[in-house]
Amino acid sequence: MGTNFIIIQDKLVKFKKNITVDGDKSISIRWLLLSSQALGVSKAKNILRSEDVMSAIDCLKRLGVKINFFKKYCFIKGVGINGFKFRKNIVLNAGNSGTVGRLILPLLIKTPYKIKILGDKSLSKRDFSRVIKPLSELGANFFPKNKTKLPISILGSKYLRPINYFENKGSAQCKTCLMLASLNLPGEVRIIAKKSRNHTELMFKKLKIPIKINSKKNFDHIKTSSPIRINKFNLNIPGDISSAAFFIVMTLLSENSELNLKNINLNPSRLGIIKILNKMGAKIKMKNLKKYNGEMCGDIFLKSVNNLKGINCAPSLNSSAIDEFLIIFLVAAKSNGVSYFKNLSELNEKESPRLKLGSKILNMIGIKTKLTNSSIKIYGNPNLNLDDSKKFEIKDYLKDHRIMAMCTIAALTLGGKWKIHDSDSIETSFPSFLKILKNNFRAKFK
Ligand code: S3P
Repeated sequence: MGTNFIIIQDKLVKFKKNITVDGDKSISIRWLLLSSQALGVSKAKNILRSEDVMSAIDCLKRLGVKINFFKKYCFIKGVGINGFKFRKNIVLNAGNSGTVGRLILPLLIKTPYKIKILGDKSLSKRDFSRVIKPLSELGANFFPKNKTKLPISILGSKYLRPINYFENKGSAQCKTCLMLASLNLPGEVRIIAKKSRNHTELMFKKLKIPIKINSKKNFDHIKTSSPIRINKFNLNIPGDISSAAFFIVMTLLSENSELNLKNINLNPSRLGIIKILNKMGAKIKMKNLKKYNGEMCGDIFLKSVNNLKGINCAPSLNSSAIDEFLIIFLVAAKSNGVSYFKNLSELNEKESPRLKLGSKILNMIGIKTKLTNSSIKIYGNPNLNLDDSKKFEIKDYLKDHRIMAMCTIAALTLGGKWKIHDSDSIETSFPSFLKILKNNFRAKFK
């Protein structure tokens, strides 16, 4: 491993670029988990090759699944539903990934031996009661009893039953956990879930896994049950809008620049960032929209804007922008007027307490905020420019990849002399981030 910090002391000069970003993380992990339960060899092109995805691969390999890479492709030889090779003393490491930790558990609810799940320092601080509770209710066992954080062990059961589950956080992970559990259950799992990203639902439909969805205003009523088998399936994975988000904001906050992001997943349940920024005065356009395997994909086009305005953000947009709020806060910092984001306590449940740390970083660059446990008011300054002699040091942020990327974009668009520690944290979700900045935008790092 090389030096694990970057120094940025030059703003970007104006640009006009076409780029792509790394593959979608949620879709990559779901494809791996579901194709592990399929029969035959499935193939994915452009799967994200980040640490979170590697954690998913590592867990599956420990459960007896064969996974290989060849050129741009990832191949996985599925073992069928509940076909994992369960044995004594398996330990699975979900690394930094809440998605891997929470979505592997429902595939283990029949294990006859205890399986231990652990994670890194950040993941070990995060709440697992949200999945332990419903999985216990349907018959799985967890040890130590009453523990709500990793490491924990799961012991399956022969006597599992489907449950009715009310998901009220807008968490796609909780919803998906129960949907995956249904593969191993007799009868129908009924979920009432606050709207959140629906990649799992779309994959279930593609795979002909029995699913009925009754869509209401803020909630989806979902019923799923186990299919007789899942057939192998190939996927071409589009770019991740959560990674594109950093370049969207970089363009907005730069001068006289233009950006075209090609082949991005534009699933409506992920478009919060575009809706929010357009309400703040951006003119982000989606082009060349097409449906691929049920998922909307296309290009994102935008230009820099110099009259951004604050927003009173509707909480109904929260789930569709949940991973983008840090970078949205940066836009609010450079907008005219006060922005208000509320009902966002979930943001403190991420890889780091992002509501708190986001506020701290804005204060550091001279932006006033008012913070509660679930909301932030940001007092924007359209003239925000950081003096080149001013030093900013970013450390002790639990290696949160999105904090790292947010600060990199702040440095490249606002100025100042920045030292960002633990810069390889970005490997979690977006390994090409710095390379794209260097090669396409002539960003300078030391
Ligand atoms: C994800 C769901 C979100 C998101 C995470 C990925 C997923 O978490 O923050 O990065 O792939 O389902 P929650 O479902 O806990 O909100």
